[in-house]
Amino acid sequence: MKQSPVELEKKYLMQTYARLPVVLERGKGCWVWDTKGKKYLDFVSGLAVNALGHAHPRILKVIREQAAKAIHLSNLYYHPYQGPLAVKLTKLTKMDRAFFCNSGTEAVEGALKLARAYAGNASNGKFEVVALDNSFHGRTMGALSATGQAKYRKDFEPMLPGVRFVKFNDWRDLEKKVTDKTCAILVEPIQGEGGIQEITQGFMRAVGHLAKKHKALLIADEIQCGMGRTGPFLAMHAYPVKPDIVLLAKPLGGGLPLGAILAREEVAAAFTPGMHGTTFGGGPLACRVAMEFLDILKEEKILENVRTVGKYFQGKLEALKDKHAIIREVRGRGLMQAIDLNAPSKPYVERALAKGVILNSTHDTVLRFLPPFIVGKKEVDIVCKTLDEMFAEK
Ligand SMILES: Cc1ncc(COP(=O)(O)O)c(C=O)c1O
Repeated sequence: MKQSPVELEKKYLMQTYARLPVVLERGKGCWVWDTKGKKYLDFVSGLAVNALGHAHPRILKVIREQAAKAIHLSNLYYHPYQGPLAVKLTKLTKMDRAFFCNSGTEAVEGALKLARAYAGNASNGKFEVVALDNSFHGRTMGALSATGQAKYRKDFEPMLPGVRFVKFNDWRDLEKKVTDKTCAILVEPIQGEGGIQEITQGFMRAVGHLAKKHKALLIADEIQCGMGRTGPFLAMHAYPVKPDIVLLAKPLGGGLPLGAILAREEVAAAFTPGMHGTTFGGGPLACRVAMEFLDILKEEKILENVRTVGKYFQGKLEALKDKHAIIREVRGRGLMQAIDLNAPSKPYVERALAKGVILNSTHDTVLRFLPPFIVGKKEVDIVCKTLDEMFAEK
């Protein structure tokens, strides 16, 4: 008898994911369907990837057109899309140059290399990276070494030397750990995997000040919170501090794997030919789709929707908090929202799934909401009604 996708995975895949018991097959807008034809409202968006929801007609059209021309061309040659995409992204991030890779963790990895190269390749002892407790930057050894959560690192020690962790939003601790040996301070303006935790204005100002004072680079990991998810194009735009390096990934490729390192001119100059590279990164298909994605954000006024619906959503979550004692806090900006519960959050993810709503749990007690940027008030109402029902049922 033919085995199901679940049975096959259980037997043949490395068991790295604690998957939910559903086989998802297709999507349209904010909705996805499983192989049995059941419909779900998707408030996870492929973990902040599907900003335009599923099957946006303009994205489909350029994928078809470009796939027929060229899917992959080596970085040994030029192609027509990396340059124009870099123009758009440097304008939006107020940076000068771009490097394209395939994922968030690769962007972090490349940025750590760039920071070390810029500082003088460690020969002067300036190789330390300051990162924050509770952060998440990815799963390769460099990015993992800078991830401030022991549960991700513990099985893979020893980590990269020279990473110092600072207590979240504690500028006194920051002041102790940033020294002339620091080559970079790495921050997520809003921690995503860490349970939607925002850096305060005061702490970010201290980050900017200490980075300047000690000639360390400020790296903003905007992989989850960037590209409009919080309202402005970058979450950093809410602070009066300019980073030296900005990292993007997740929604950038319109669903295709694409990441980017953006840097100031002087910093970018530390990479010269041969120092960094990738086979797949910045391929013509992913770059062409990314350009279309950015055009759609602008032409369809998508970030206005993020701001309006984000505010509406947050208001409704606050109202749920007033009604249900299980919610201890509502956190977030724009369409990066969370409720922190007085109980484990995972059972609610399973119950919501049974009710046709896809939610995510992170950090044990947090329900995280990362809906597509195109979400409307109607969909927010459905999710809030589901939460209301679940919390009333106990
Ligand atoms: C802030 C942040 N940085 C880095 C990463 C790693 O990105 P990827 O999973 O694309 O490698 C993530 C992924 O969740 C993230 O949220």
